[in-house]
Amino acid sequence: MINVPTEDHSQPIAMPDYLIRHATLRQLQVFEAIVRHGNFTRASEELFLSQPTVSAQVKKLADAMGLPLFEQAGRRVKPTDAALELYEACRKIFDTLANLEIKIAEIKGIKRGRLRLCVVTTAKYIAPELLGEFSQTHQGVEVSLKVTNRDSVIDRIQVNEDDLYMMGQAPGDELQVEAYGFAPNPLVVMAPRDHPLVGRKKIPLSTIAQEPFILREPGSGIRDATLRKFSEAGLQLHIRMVLGSNEAIKHAVVGGLGLSALSLHTLALEGSDGPVAVLDVEGFPIQREWYLVHPKGKDLSPIARAFLEYAITSEPVIRERLEREWPGLIAAKPPAAKAKGRRPKSAVRRKA
Ligand code: PGA
Repeated sequence: MINVPTEDHSQPIAMPDYLIRHATLRQLQVFEAIVRHGNFTRASEELFLSQPTVSAQVKKLADAMGLPLFEQAGRRVKPTDAALELYEACRKIFDTLANLEIKIAEIKGIKRGRLRLCVVTTAKYIAPELLGEFSQTHQGVEVSLKVTNRDSVIDRIQVNEDDLYMMGQAPGDELQVEAYGFAPNPLVVMAPRDHPLVGRKKIPLSTIAQEPFILREPGSGIRDATLRKFSEAGLQLHIRMVLGSNEAIKHAVVGGLGLSALSLHTLALEGSDGPVAVLDVEGFPIQREWYLVHPKGKDLSPIARAFLEYAITSEPVIRERLEREWPGLIAAKPPAAKAKGRRPKSAVRRKA
């Protein structure tokens, strides 16, 4: 995708053909240094050129301009009016070229460099796959992935420790962030395959509240979303166990220790006919989204921008994969999530 300039560039601009043919950027550089220093000697020192070379460059430039650039004022030389005009033009030209160099360096930077991604515990079921696919087209990019729970992710955002954060719910008012929704993240109730509730339709939430339940640890986003769902219905869960790992919870579910609510992504490897079954519970799935987040106003590195754009454009593929395995469990983007998830204005997909 090409970042199309916003101004109308369909009209040709006036080309300084004569100067293009007769002046060089090197001459302009020498001239700019002389005027800035007010001194030929210092200009030659700055540019590591001999004084005769500096004088020769300025003479050629004056010939190209068709006007003298310096005049004698007592024992000193001073720039002519034409030279002062030329000096202003030089500053603009070099400013534009310096900006161009930065942009080119940024584009090159996508090929090499580091992407520091910090993700909530459950995002480990989606982040490595995305990173793997991204790395295939960005071979020189070194990736570091920190996996921790929601509370620690928020702590790390506060001190701007990583390039991007992946979370199941963007931080609220406690933090000023930009959040971009990029994939569905339904939370489902899980039971062992041989549980009597498996196969039942529209199980009331109150039935689940009576079952022994395994909950994620404090600080977990899944825990918060689950507790909120039950308390909104005026119900209290019968918590049998608290575990800090999705994998441990799945094993505990299979071992008959209780039911649990986890992200559907945690079943990515076992699929829909593994030892863990998804129950049809009223009010579930809780339709959530995955977000990529960064502190508001943060200048993303080109690699981080490229990854953000990559994740956003991967949404239909991730959605389709989930829908194929679990038809009917993935809703269209919820309106609230749509409003929160924005496209990164500055993120432009670039080929490596
Ligand atoms: P968690 O967050 O892994 O910290 O529970 C995941 C989520 O919010 O979906």
